Amino acid sequence: MIKIVVLISGNGSNLEAIAKACQNNSIPGSIELVISNKPDVKGLERAQKYHLMSQTINHTDFSSREDFDQALTERVLSIEPDLVVLAGFMRILTTQFTNAFAGKLINIHPSLLPEYPGLDTHKQALENGDLMHGVTIHYVDEGLDSGPIIAQGALKIDPSQSEAKLAQRIHKIEHALLPKVIAEIAKGLISLKGKEVKFESKSYFGKNNMEFFNV
Ligand code: GAR
Repeated sequence: MIKIVVLISGNGSNLEAIAKACQNNSIPGSIELVISNKPDVKGLERAQKYHLMSQTINHTDFSSREDFDQALTERVLSIEPDLVVLAGFMRILTTQFTNAFAGKLINIHPSLLPEYPGLDTHKQALENGDLMHGVTIHYVDEGLDSGPIIAQGALKIDPSQSEAKLAQRIHKIEHALLPKVIAEIAKGLISLKGKEVKFESKSYFGKNNMEFFNV
């Protein structure tokens, strides 16, 4: 059973997908702590619903990014996690944090990276007339939404659909893909070796790390 810490900033639907998968044992692990950098968010309600330990470390209480990251690092280290998941965590992390959890830190991002790091990914994909859009799950390095890619899920854009509808479709892929990736990490089928993702031969993602979703 691996120990997981999940960092959120808002809605927390990915947190809920992970919590469900831990509850029904498809992930051999448990969420030991949920941290939000914003108070009173829906994700904290979801954490309560699943009886998860949760807390807010409000970034506005700190005078610098470094001070916030230090508090965050110390709290997460106190859990001695095997895996830290950024699940809609909308803060740029300093190298202090990313180094402390190197090889144990993954992020989910709503685009087919390296396309569209940062914000407003759905809007950009629609405005650029892209045919495809998707999500990426990757190990985190010191860059913004960068680091070795574990898995991607893609969909075909329907240009008549709204940004909200596209976001909803993207969420469906995220909720399917993220728990599956975490389960494989927990089973030792996926790991980071240096700057490369290592897939054991039994890993589903080794051969299918870009999957098309009909959502
Ligand atoms: C997700 O779509 C996730 O990919 C994105 O925030 C959303 C959070 O949704 N993350 C980023 O943009 C990180 N750069 P959720 O709070 O419902 O899980």
